[in-house]
Amino acid sequence: MSERSIKEPEIFFDNQTGQLTSPVITVSKKLLSGLENVFKNEAVRASMDQEQVVYEVECYFPVEEGKKGGLFWGVSRIYPGKVAGEYFMTRGHFHSESDTAEFYWGIAGKGVLVCMDTNGQSWAEYLKPNSLHYIAGNVAHRVANIGNESLIFGACWLSDAGHDYASIEQNGFSVRLVDLNGKPTLIEAW
Ligand SMILES: [Fe+2]
Repeated sequence: MSERSIKEPEIFFDNQTGQLTSPVITVSKKLLSGLENVFKNEAVRASMDQEQVVYEVECYFPVEEGKKGGLFWGVSRIYPGKVAGEYFMTRGHFHSESDTAEFYWGIAGKGVLVCMDTNGQSWAEYLKPNSLHYIAGNVAHRVANIGNESLIFGACWLSDAGHDYASIEQNGFSVRLVDLNGKPTLIEAW
């Protein structure tokens, strides 16, 4: 009888803190300077500290981007803050390969996931620790931090999904999430 070795894992994910530990991680940071025209009040955004980090994403890409059949994994951290009453949020995107779905799940903090279909119909749901969100294909998605602490959430998507940020840059979402008297409120944007 020959003995085969059992490998130690190389990649760890801490479900409590969102800490991803891997020899191969891609990190991207989004500063306030990179969010031009994302918030309704562009003048206020432009007047704030442009070096402020609004969110950062750590990703594990086991295969090349665009490869069919692979999966990507990421953990996002959105810092607390507002631009003229509108919560710090991700730019939001459709997937370039439009009919590809994605999972998000809450790890820490309080947030709202805002979705919009290709007809401009929008909806939103709270994203909180242990909440799980299936985002169907052809649905744009963005997340806002509505709390006073960092919002951390995980994501898993197809390696051939790609990101279409341009549609959102041009048309935005049909709703905006604003703080109205201390309460997260979804209002019509168009
Ligand atoms: Fe996505």
